[in-house]
Amino acid sequence: MGTGAPVSVTAGADRYPEHNQETAMSHQARPDEAQEPETPHLDFQGTTPYEDYVQADVLTHLQHTLSDDPGEMVFLVTTQVMELWFTVIVHEWETAAKALRADDIPVAVAALKRSVRELEALNASWRPLGQLTPAQFNSYRSALGEGSGFQSAMYRRMEFLLGEKSASMLVPHRGAPRVHAELEKALHEPSLYDEVLRLLARRGHAIPASVLERDVALRYEPSPEVQAVWTALYAGDDSDELARLGEALTDVAELVWRWRNDHLVATRRAMGSKTGTGGSAGVAWLEKRAQKNVFPELWTARSYV
Ligand code: HEM
Repeated sequence: MGTGAPVSVTAGADRYPEHNQETAMSHQARPDEAQEPETPHLDFQGTTPYEDYVQADVLTHLQHTLSDDPGEMVFLVTTQVMELWFTVIVHEWETAAKALRADDIPVAVAALKRSVRELEALNASWRPLGQLTPAQFNSYRSALGEGSGFQSAMYRRMEFLLGEKSASMLVPHRGAPRVHAELEKALHEPSLYDEVLRLLARRGHAIPASVLERDVALRYEPSPEVQAVWTALYAGDDSDELARLGEALTDVAELVWRWRNDHLVATRRAMGSKTGTGGSAGVAWLEKRAQKNVFPELWTARSYV
């Protein structure tokens, strides 16, 4: 990354007077110290290596608000921040699915555990929007037109990885070829949960053929036989690799459920029972979505352990 030439310490001192003062004070305390600490390099041939890597200039100029309301900025940025977290989480779950396919449980669990911390950060991003009043939301709501998070392709990829597949969710993206192609690929790939169940079968657990050979482009439906497998695993040694995999998946499921519920409560506060900008019944529709269990048998098995 280091393409730039270093510039003299004095230039750094001009730029960061506070830093310099602090350094001078610490020098008084230690008169024997001859040299000041090096300040960062200032001079680069082109854009900074930081910019080349992070593309902060691109990222911080993507905030095109649609109204004059000062409160819209945080709504837009929170949505963008959540899109970035969705992207990281999809990456982790795809890593986990690939590792499971290769029977590498440690790599899969490591990716799932990273995603748990990322989901916590994602959920914490509700804070700036959690207490919006209807009047505040109304100040820019009409400017959103028919725009809705329902049209988020990256959120849909998360749902697909969890097993919540639906071909009709591709329809809104027909006009965006790259997004549509990525979503279509994700629809036809086994979900993270499909990979988990295939691995359980390879390890000798009685996952039925109807589950193993199911059409992966359809929504996963719970199976009593799969529930029995998780029940047996949970009744056994809880340090077992597969029981630990089950718990990592349960952590993921819980945090996804929390995201849905935080979204539901924020929506109820901001717009009551009005219809959504995306055309749904709003809160009533979101309530139904929030009731869906992620990795269903990991929850129902608990009643039988
Ligand atoms: C407090 C502000 C928000 C309100 C009032 C709100 C409202 C709604 C409503 C009513 C729906 C149902 C679809 C529709 O008719 O539009 C929806 C869906 C959705 N929203 Fe929000 N939303 C808010 C903030 C956000 C943010 C910040 C995100 C982040 C990306 C987001 C992501 C989503 C997603 C992914 C869906 C689809 C959920 C699903 O398919 O189950 N929303 N939202």
